[in-house]
Amino acid sequence: MAKRVVLAYSGGLDTSVAVRWMIEELGVEVVALAVDVGQASDDWDVVRERARAAGAVDAIVVDARKEFAEDFVLPALKANAMYEGRYPLVSALSRPVIVKHLVEAARQTGASAVAHGCTGKGNDQVRFEVSTRALAPDLEVIAPVRGWGMTREDSIHYAYDHGIPIQATKEKVYSIDDNLWGRAIECGEMEDPWAVPPQGVWLLTKPTETEPRDLEIGFEQGMPVSIDGERLGMLEVIEKLNVIVGAYGWGRIDMVENRRVGIKSRETYECPAALALIMAHKDLESICLERDLDREKARIEPRYAELIYDGLWFSPLKEAFDSFVDKSQEFVTGEVRLRLASGSCVVTGRRSETSLYDYELATYDAADTFRHEDSAGFVRLWGLGIETWSARQASTRPKV
Ligand code: ARG
Repeated sequence: MAKRVVLAYSGGLDTSVAVRWMIEELGVEVVALAVDVGQASDDWDVVRERARAAGAVDAIVVDARKEFAEDFVLPALKANAMYEGRYPLVSALSRPVIVKHLVEAARQTGASAVAHGCTGKGNDQVRFEVSTRALAPDLEVIAPVRGWGMTREDSIHYAYDHGIPIQATKEKVYSIDDNLWGRAIECGEMEDPWAVPPQGVWLLTKPTETEPRDLEIGFEQGMPVSIDGERLGMLEVIEKLNVIVGAYGWGRIDMVENRRVGIKSRETYECPAALALIMAHKDLESICLERDLDREKARIEPRYAELIYDGLWFSPLKEAFDSFVDKSQEFVTGEVRLRLASGSCVVTGRRSETSLYDYELATYDAADTFRHEDSAGFVRLWGLGIETWSARQASTRPKV
């Protein structure tokens, strides 16, 4: 019996050609697996048909949107995860859930290998392979696109010669990866980091709405649970916010980031829901987290984001961080008000039953309960060490 391989299939040119190429060149049987993580895709029936036309013995589509939202996006949101402070990890978060399903499909179909369509220059190969090794070290990982040396034009000819029905044009300008957490757009004229991204690249953040509005997001233990009082699941919150916030033309990112493989890369993203939720969540934490906990959490957040970016979703450090972050969210319950206007989204209010903001301590009016007399001694002790240093050492230095 021929060896069986489960390929992470997108329905695009590269993975369609990869199906046939692996059959011809490696003599394997290919099971194509498409994982729905909320990407804009052709009809899934069409995708399935295309995989079969390319020669797949089976074509499976898994709807992983809810799982992706709840088990992958939510932990990242609780950790306010942003790579290099700006990128909410759109593609990086989807790879581990895709791998989870690849491995499951490999087990179910008796495959001894999994395959992906990544090139050798990106982060996604790292995420696919490291995640697979974490979940199923016995499975071989095959990366046909990385080694086949075909240009885009070669691939189109290959598809044409083998009767694979793809709709690719010779000039594919952008490399796009998307899911419900946002969209990543690379290449084309944007490979010049000075070039202004052309208007045509934006899809989720077209400014069509001009009338400003307020939006109230409710959280329970760090999880968004409602919009304007309407109770919603995690997936629905994200889907709704992409539409509502995106319509104000807000949620774009234009940055040069450091890839794991050592390349600096100009990236544009549009992530209206992700950016609005992280902003709101972080703001709610400002009233719900005790100071030291807030500070310590802020210290680990960049590290947590880096782990996800670098393909280490399934790792002991990431798991340990999850325990910390989950515990920190115990009292992150309340509402945040956002104000949307053309091209802008800002927080204009936050409240919580378990808020640590104490009006009577904070106020400057009559309701004030703060014990002013305590401050004098506190401040004196706070400055005591500095005073001693100044008297004994600093004052002996030559005056400048
Ligand atoms: N630079 C981003 C990341 O590494 C986006 C990658 C997009 N992937 C793609 N195949 N176009 O997470």
